Amino acid sequence: MKILLVDDEQAILETLQILFRGEGYEVTVADSGPKALAALEDEKPDLVLTDVRMPGAGGLDVLSAARQIDPEMPVILMTAQASLQTAVRAVNEGAYYYLQKPFANDELLAICRRAAEARQLKVENRQLRKEIRRRGQVDARRPVGAAPRFVEVLALVETVAATGSTVLISGESGTGKELVARYIHELSDRSERAFLSINCGALPDSLLDSELFGHVKGSFTGAVRDKDGLLVAAAGGTFFLDEIGEMSPSTQVKLLRAVQEREVIPVGATKAVSVDVRIIAATNRDLEEEISRGAFRSDLYYRLNVIQLHLPPLRERREDVPVLANYFLHKLATARGVARVPVLAPETLEVLTRYDWPGNVRELENALERAAVLATGDTIGPQALPERVREAPRPRLATEETAQNPTMEVVERAYIQWVLQAEGGNKTRAAEVLGIDPSTLYRKLNRYSIPE
Ligand SMILES: Nc1ncnc2c1ncn2[C@@H]1O[C@H](COP(=O)(O)OP(=O)(O)OP(=O)(O)O)[C@@H](O)[C@H]1O
Ligand SMILES: [Mg+2]
Repeated sequence: MKILLVDDEQAILETLQILFRGEGYEVTVADSGPKALAALEDEKPDLVLTDVRMPGAGGLDVLSAARQIDPEMPVILMTAQASLQTAVRAVNEGAYYYLQKPFANDELLAICRRAAEARQLKVENRQLRKEIRRRGQVDARRPVGAAPRFVEVLALVETVAATGSTVLISGESGTGKELVARYIHELSDRSERAFLSINCGALPDSLLDSELFGHVKGSFTGAVRDKDGLLVAAAGGTFFLDEIGEMSPSTQVKLLRAVQEREVIPVGATKAVSVDVRIIAATNRDLEEEISRGAFRSDLYYRLNVIQLHLPPLRERREDVPVLANYFLHKLATARGVARVPVLAPETLEVLTRYDWPGNVRELENALERAAVLATGDTIGPQALPERVREAPRPRLATEETAQNPTMEVVERAYIQWVLQAEGGNKTRAAEVLGIDPSTLYRKLNRYSIPE
């Protein structure tokens, strides 16, 4: 515990110093107001004990300076003149306590101990609140799913997030690559800093270079001033390179340098600028195939591919469909301020699970948004789904097909388990969400041997 002692009387200062050292405090002394202000800045004490009447800056100035540096720093004032006015003013301005000289050492120490404890509590509370807020944000971003293949990827995501390694995420369009990238950032110790991203397929070459690496004034028409690249701007944070497979060979060379040397050379510059970012890249192409075509550099691939995450298409993890569908219905209801979340009729669930979802999770989300708007009652029937979804053929029973496509029963089991868990094991509420009778739910729990 660091204490700052302020008094213009040297004798008092010395007595107090001995007293507080003896109690194990780390002591700094100042024999004038101005010196106290400087010490506040330099030492950032946990506690301040100051005289009120001093030539130059007085105790009230010390108080207001302390509150500016840290509003939770307790300041205790001592004065010889028992002036009630000053006392009231000091307390109004946030002084922790007002002591009248002469006072007993025991009294002083007790007050200081209480002030230090109060401060400690406040600091801990603030950290706790921050942590709770952070967890809330993290939970809100947690990708949803119940399929074993997906749960496996999610577990890997949660393990690698803290490591700071470069990550390469592959998966078809709409499988959640960006969502996963943001989730990794949120879980990492870079979460307080920026998450910046760029879509490598959306910009012409020269523009992409200047956006990524920056440029110096006059390096091309329109470059009227020096500009930092996004890789530099994301300092301390995470940089998401979306659709990396679309990047031109010349930009790939520059990116390789950035990843390897941790520095970039802005367009038109001669000096390198250092970068401190975690890179997460995503692609919906098969990069190994791009390499064999000569379109993607293998050295860059190996640099990016430190951790590889593959998000399977939705048709290969059908157990996720009901879980995601339910999640989106809740999300939509919240966004629209609707208290009652509609329920999916069993036939609707069956249709949703049968369809192949070429647009993956994004397509599912859109279909449900539409269905939630079209649905008239509390239950969403299959007619609220787009025609292409409704008309999907029933699965053939070829063996390799069933291996990839779980049966309706497997899907149902996973879904029921998920809902039960989401409702904290409450079967009445789970039955309500599932749109079935509690007795039907009990029967199913029994049939699927789901522990109650
Ligand atoms: N597991 C999931 N849980 C919740 N929402 C998801 C999940 N997967 C995807 N989504 C949602 O689906 C939409 C598409 O996801 P995202 O943009 O991350 O996909 P993508 O793989 O980056 O697609 P593209 O290749 O087209 O850019 C987003 O609204 C995202 O929030
Ligand atoms: Mg994306």
